[in-house]
Amino acid sequence: VDERHAGALAGNVRTPVSVIGLGPMGRALAGAFIRRGHPTTVWNRTAGKADALVAQGAVLARTVAEAADASSLVVVCVLDGSAVRAIVEAAGGALNGKTLVNLTSDTPGRARELAEWAAERGIEYLDGAILTPSTTIGEAAAVVVYSGSPDLFAACRPVLASLGGMAIHLGADPGRAAAYDVSLLDMYWTFVSGCVHALALARAEGIAAQELAAYSQGLAAILPGIVGGFARQIDEGRYPGDRSSLASAAAGMEHVIAAAEVHGIDTAVLRAAEAGVRRAVDAGFGGDGFARLNEMLRRQTG
Ligand SMILES: NC(=O)c1ccc[n+]([C@@H]2O[C@H](COP(=O)([O-])OP(=O)(O)OC[C@H]3O[C@@H](n4cnc5c(N)ncnc54)[C@H](OP(=O)(O)O)[C@@H]3O)[C@@H](O)[C@H]2O)c1
Repeated sequence: VDERHAGALAGNVRTPVSVIGLGPMGRALAGAFIRRGHPTTVWNRTAGKADALVAQGAVLARTVAEAADASSLVVVCVLDGSAVRAIVEAAGGALNGKTLVNLTSDTPGRARELAEWAAERGIEYLDGAILTPSTTIGEAAAVVVYSGSPDLFAACRPVLASLGGMAIHLGADPGRAAAYDVSLLDMYWTFVSGCVHALALARAEGIAAQELAAYSQGLAAILPGIVGGFARQIDEGRYPGDRSSLASAAAGMEHVIAAAEVHGIDTAVLRAAEAGVRRAVDAGFGGDGFARLNEMLRRQTG
C-alpha cells in the first residue's frame, strides 16, 4: 500500500473534487470539501455564485469540461435531472473515464436513465440523494443515501465522508436512492403544504401564525409514532380502527374544509384527501384505521 493509498484508506488524502451546481446545496457541498482540505474546483451556470467559495480557496472553472478535467471525482447537484443531462452533455467527452456522483433529486427512472447514459460513455456513475437540509452538510446531522455499484461507492466513500454525518449505500440499482428520496419527499411536501394551509386558516381566524405554531408542537411530536404505527400496519396488511376510524376521519376533515371555505381559503388538497377517505368508507372500510388508504391510492389498471 503506497502512501497515497494508505491515506485514502484512512480517509485523509486530499482527493481533488469538482462540484457542479452552486445553489444552496451545491455551495454547502463545495464548502464542506474545501474545509476538509480537498482541492475543490467549482462550476455554475451563473458564475457569480462561486465568489464566496473562490475566496475560501476553490478554483472556478470556466466550463463544465474544465471542471471535469480538474478532478477524477465530479459531484453534480442542480435543480433536476434535465439540468444534469444538459450539463453533462455540454462536457463533451471530458467526463469519460471519470466518476460522476449525482446528488440531484429526481425520479428513480431519471436516475436509471442517467446511469445508462453514463455507462455508454465509460463514466462511472453513482446516484445519491441528500435527505437533510444544506445546513447539515459537513456536520454530524447530514444524511446522504447512495445507489449504484457497491465497489464504486466503496472507492468514493473516503471523499464522500467529507460531507459529514451518514453516507448509506442502498444497493446496486441506481434508482434506489431516488426511490427513498421521492417517497420521503412525498411525506415532506404534503406535510409542509398542510403547515402553510393551517397557518393561513389560523390567521383568517385572527390567530397569529407564531401563536398557533406553539400549539402545534405536540402535534408534530406524535408524527414519528404515527408513521411507525402506519408502517407496521401496512407491512402486516391489518388496519385496526379501534383508536380512530376512517368514518371519524371523514367527519373531522369536513370540519376543516368548512372552516377554510368560510374564509375563501383554497380547499383543493383537503378535498382530494377527504374524497379518498370517503371512497374507503363507501367501500365498506369505515371502521378501519387511516393506514387502510395505502391500499386504495393506486389507480386501478386492467
Ligand atoms: N437546499 C436544500 O436544503 C436541499 C436539501 C436536500 C436536497 N436538495 C437537492 O439538492 C439539489 C440542488 O438544490 P439547491 O437547494 O442547491 O437549489 P436548486 O434551486 O434546486 O438548484 C439550483 C442550481 O441548479 C442550477 N440549474 C438549474 N437549472 C439549470 C440548467 N438548466 N443548467 C445548468 N444549471 C442549472 C442553478 O444554476 P444557476 O445558479 O445558474 O441558476 C443552481 O446551481 C436539488 O435536487 C434539491 O432537491 C436540496
